[in-house]
Amino acid sequence: MPTPSITPEILFEARRHFLKLGAGALVSSTALSQLLASMPEEIQLSFTKDPNPLKLTPNTFEQVSNYVNFYEFSTDKTAPVKMAQVMKLKPWSLGFFGEIAREEMVEVDDLIAKFGLEERIYRFRCVEGWSMVVPWIGFPLYKLLDYLRPGSKAKYVKFTTRHEPDIFPDQAKGLFASIKHPYVEGLRMDEARHPLTFLAVGMYGKPLPKQNGAPIRLVVPWKYGFKSIKSLDLIECVEEQPLNTWQAMAPEEYGFYANVNPQVDHPRWSQAKERLLGKLTKQETLMFNGYEKEVSHLYAGMDLRKQY
Ligand code: MTE
Repeated sequence: MPTPSITPEILFEARRHFLKLGAGALVSSTALSQLLASMPEEIQLSFTKDPNPLKLTPNTFEQVSNYVNFYEFSTDKTAPVKMAQVMKLKPWSLGFFGEIAREEMVEVDDLIAKFGLEERIYRFRCVEGWSMVVPWIGFPLYKLLDYLRPGSKAKYVKFTTRHEPDIFPDQAKGLFASIKHPYVEGLRMDEARHPLTFLAVGMYGKPLPKQNGAPIRLVVPWKYGFKSIKSLDLIECVEEQPLNTWQAMAPEEYGFYANVNPQVDHPRWSQAKERLLGKLTKQETLMFNGYEKEVSHLYAGMDLRKQY
């Protein structure tokens, strides 16, 4: 058991060290492996496996957990990996508010017990032009919405990241922060209820690494990655379309829908291709990130150039 003086940072460094040592060192280094066993990332979750009908090949855990976007810590891709280890994940309750049957706060562990866990191997495409394939663990958002019972006025779902400037240095910068905090996202109710829309609490069989949005984040695989908001604090069912953070920051560049669309370029770069993490050459970006069959009906009759 680690002593109380062992900080998450030390544990994190120990894990890095351990990964460098490789399997042989594991047997000889009992103390280290005991330390590592106490890290959330080492806990194995139980879940039903994704049959992976699209035969996707996931990236490695190391690739996905060492290249992140987490502006609450830094705009750098790697700095949050270490910085995020200060996050305290337990207790962590999620607040459910707005046009629902009963407003309440629920612990993430209780949500897991209520809805069970399943794996979803999804493509993930960032608006910046990189992509990855991740085996997420969690439950579909519709299960939570069925439980919350949104009323007829609930047209949208609004998501908000935890606001805790003591933990998130960028939030503490106030007016000088790199984005407007707290991070907000939104989905239309039919998008939110789509069976692909997912709340992830883990990946690669283990709880989410802090830098990937622990303890619970949204994953919407047919939309640009910025819709997949991390470290959720609030889920509200609302009547008005929420103003999501990136739309508020740069409305000419980022919209509400943010559906992956190789035919609609970002004003400053092409969206036709993407670089899969770990690959040197680019690959074609697919309409709705390869989920066209499943989701295109949601946007029938819409001008996807205007409603981007
Ligand atoms: N959520 C919060 N709260 N803060 C962020 O900076 N970045 C978004 C999204 N969710 C972000 C966030 C962006 S731009 C992307 S591409 C994905 O998270 C990145 O997820 P990953 O770091 O797990 O790859």
